[in-house]
Amino acid sequence: MSARRRERDHGRETDPTGREAGESAATPEPAETAGLDRPMSLDEIRASYDEYADWLHRFERIERLVTGRYRRERFGDVGGRVLDVACGTGTNAEYLPESVEYVGVDISGEMLAKARDRLDRLGIDGDLYRMDAQDLDFDDGAFDAVLSALSTCTFPDPVAALGEMDRVRAPGGTIRLVEHGRSDVGIIARYQDWRSDAHYANAGCRWTQEPRRIVARAGLDPVDVTTGLFGTITTFEL
Ligand SMILES: C[S@@+](CC[C@H](N)C(=O)[O-])C[C@H]1O[C@@H](n2cnc3c(N)ncnc32)[C@H](O)[C@@H]1O
Repeated sequence: MSARRRERDHGRETDPTGREAGESAATPEPAETAGLDRPMSLDEIRASYDEYADWLHRFERIERLVTGRYRRERFGDVGGRVLDVACGTGTNAEYLPESVEYVGVDISGEMLAKARDRLDRLGIDGDLYRMDAQDLDFDDGAFDAVLSALSTCTFPDPVAALGEMDRVRAPGGTIRLVEHGRSDVGIIARYQDWRSDAHYANAGCRWTQEPRRIVARAGLDPVDVTTGLFGTITTFEL
């Protein structure tokens, strides 16, 4: 393991790729493909988030209570020109230093409208675009930092989206992720497994995926990984 690379998991050292010995990063786990016998199209995902934007905005205080500290820890020190991929209602903007030049993209126009309201309220003069994370319309190396939260679970092809994040980050730039996935607590994981198809059908979200495997399959090398909330949250510096 390189000197820069660390894994923090309640004090436990694990392989930062999340792989067991002999396991290939290219092979999806059954849990990762749950609900994907009929994957949602990009249009269906957009329509779903357009429909839920109001609801998600209303429950945002609760969501921030749960994920706020992870966002603050992972995003609070980025600088320069920053791209927030699948920015949703712009929650991440609450945790960024004031000095950043903020650009957010999302596939849902309704989520972006909420993000615009938030940027205005925060006094952030950011740019927002409706764009597919899997096909970003930015030049190579355009951003000092690329960040994304709770997003790879919804992308039809999360590996392609991570590849795009890598492409648009500047040489020496950073990718920061706050992701969620299958718990490492048996009873929670079993509940997630039981509800995974229904949850995907309702929310277009693969909540049993293992974010470290997605990152490994994208060929990205973690500098730092943390986990929390019974193993359901994994954060990365890449
Ligand atoms: C669970 S929300 C997370 C939003 C925000 N990052 C946050 O942490 O609050 C997932 C977001 O991903 C967006 N999304 C899903 N697929 C996308 C894609 N292919 N390209 C861009 N945005 C996408 C959805 O519209 C939604 O806003």
